[in-house]
Amino acid sequence: MRNTIRTLEKHKHEGRPITCLTAYDAGFARLLDSSDIDVILVGDSLGMVIQGHDTTLPVTIEHMVYHLEAVVRGTERAMLMADLPFLGDRDIPTALDQAGALMRAGAQMVKVECNGEHTELVRRLVTSGIPVCAHLGLTPQAVHRLGGYRVQGREVSAAERLQAEARALEAAGAQCLLLESISEALATRVTRAAQVPVIGIGASPECDGQVLVLQDVIGLTPRPPRFSRDFMTGSGSLRGAVAAFAEAVRTRSFPESGVHTFT
Ligand code: KIV
Repeated sequence: MRNTIRTLEKHKHEGRPITCLTAYDAGFARLLDSSDIDVILVGDSLGMVIQGHDTTLPVTIEHMVYHLEAVVRGTERAMLMADLPFLGDRDIPTALDQAGALMRAGAQMVKVECNGEHTELVRRLVTSGIPVCAHLGLTPQAVHRLGGYRVQGREVSAAERLQAEARALEAAGAQCLLLESISEALATRVTRAAQVPVIGIGASPECDGQVLVLQDVIGLTPRPPRFSRDFMTGSGSLRGAVAAFAEAVRTRSFPESGVHTFT
């Protein structure tokens, strides 16, 4: 039986960290599914790690559906989350069309890169039956507005704004939050305040779960981000690397404060 949002809520409630990795094809998805990874994210990071672009901006809804369908075919058990691609949020009808296409292809939750302007859009998706994970902090689709892949929310005002956005998005119906590249202290505060599961990447060991890009975990990324870890080293096999990631997350030995997190 597949994991669902109820599985993630139960994990949060019981203090059992949620494991999440990206996959973009049936073969790797099958490996993660049979390695007891709780959630597979079909991320628009595929633009960088599969298509070879410098950003996620070239990824279209057609690309997302193609890769998601392959992941669906390779899995039976993991919960499946998929990204709304760049400009999928340009207006509510477009967001409903594109998120609807992802749900029809087999996603159980749609991840939307959010800021304070997204509460109405999230409310409309949720009221139409589309579960939403609100991605906050470093939102890669905004890389050019942010001036690079930089840690977010470091100033007091920016941290307060992010906390308010997290509260507003949860109130609008987001059933999961994902925090990327923010200070450990801020990520910890947001996680403690949230009633919904909070998944971190470059965030805090106290988040309810951790996500990484699979290619970073298996040592395929030439210049991996500081918050990731190559679990292939010392594991000897792809399955060993995925198991080492899951074990490190579940024992909260990954991420390590100050090594994979930010002040
Ligand atoms: O697209 C992606 O893979 C993501 C993760 C880095 C969280 O958004």
